[in-house]
Amino acid sequence: MESDIQADSKIKTERSKRTFNIDEIRNEFPILKRTVNGKQLVYFDNAATTQKPQSVIDEIAHYYTFENANIHRGLHFLSEVATESYEQARLKVKEYINALSVSEILFVRGATEAINLLANTMCRAGMFGEDAEIIISQMEHHANIVPWQLMCERKGAQLKVIPIDDNGDLIMDEYEKLISEKTKLVSVVHTSNSLGTINPVKEIIDIAHKNGIPVLIDGSQAVQHQKIDVQELDCDYFVFSGHKMYGPTGIGVLYGKTEMLDKLPPYQGGGDMIRTVTFEETTFDDLPNKFEAGTPNIAGGIGLGKAIDYIRSFDMNDIIAHENKLLDYATEQVQKIDGLKIIGTAKEKCSVLSFVLDGIHPYDIGTIIDTDGIAIRTGHHCTQPIMQRYDLPATSRASFSFYNTTEEVDKFIVGLKKVISMFK
Ligand SMILES: Cc1ncc(COP(=O)(O)O)c(C=O)c1O
Repeated sequence: MESDIQADSKIKTERSKRTFNIDEIRNEFPILKRTVNGKQLVYFDNAATTQKPQSVIDEIAHYYTFENANIHRGLHFLSEVATESYEQARLKVKEYINALSVSEILFVRGATEAINLLANTMCRAGMFGEDAEIIISQMEHHANIVPWQLMCERKGAQLKVIPIDDNGDLIMDEYEKLISEKTKLVSVVHTSNSLGTINPVKEIIDIAHKNGIPVLIDGSQAVQHQKIDVQELDCDYFVFSGHKMYGPTGIGVLYGKTEMLDKLPPYQGGGDMIRTVTFEETTFDDLPNKFEAGTPNIAGGIGLGKAIDYIRSFDMNDIIAHENKLLDYATEQVQKIDGLKIIGTAKEKCSVLSFVLDGIHPYDIGTIIDTDGIAIRTGHHCTQPIMQRYDLPATSRASFSFYNTTEEVDKFIVGLKKVISMFK
């Protein structure tokens, strides 16, 4: 069956790419037409979650209207249709990140669950002894800190942290110094949700591999902004969430090389992940089923597949160029504001702009600017160690997607100036 699906999907992906037309694109995201507090919505909270195109919304409705059935288990028509749609989605993910095989693509709830799955199963596989060390970085999302901490508590292992400099770049010399024969895993974020830093992940992976250490990449803020090729990166694991790439919530991906996933025990037990069950013993199914116990988020998987179709209908270089233009323009505009400091000025950045304003708490900025229909995020962005690094309680963050415009950036700048004038 896989080869039929593969052939079908190849035909689809060989289609020519769409012209990047911003009006057309905005029209495809129904929520962008709505007003908030009587103003046209300006949505700059894309690092938290992205909006959904009509095609993704329709696909989910289509599934529930015409295809709804449980997958993998039934021989009846609807079960086969639903199974086919769900497995097509897995194939789309495989092609999107260029994995070697569909069995390396595990559907999970999101990046958080993917990392918890790994921490849990690696721990049960006995990969972390008492003096084991795991290297993470100072710019990790809590999702790539807390699961490892919980695991360390159980096993007595230790976290080692790669520091960042004032710009928000990783200090690579320090990374190399942290590596030792005790290091059992390197787990780092590809692109920071708080600072926008794009890390030199290929270099990080190569250094770890030279020392025989596997690497997990948290790609939650990367998959929607740049081309990802897991074979080229040669990472051992790669995780991300569907909802940050125009897909639904409650679905995400754990990619793992077959030889790595084969070494791990199942995460949860239940239906669909077994081969045989007796009261004495259970044998487990092959990848990816071994890690997918119970009825999965079928509609979510199918919706994610449609989101991938949507992204792939564009040339990724057009998306990158537009988002870079927005970041450059917004950076240039905010730099003209007295008392505003950008937090995160790394050499390589994605379209995330975090900042603080002298004498004005980020929560006030977020609340006041919302009255003009402008959605930005304020707080620690689930990266409290970054706030500690810069000695800040919080920042304000505008994060852009390819459906945003420079006109929206202008509205945001007017909004910021209004906040400042209210505090004068
Ligand atoms: C870099 C990064 N990693 C992990 C996560 C966790 O994603 P989720 O909450 O979808 O599991 C996020 C979410 O903001 C993130 O930005």
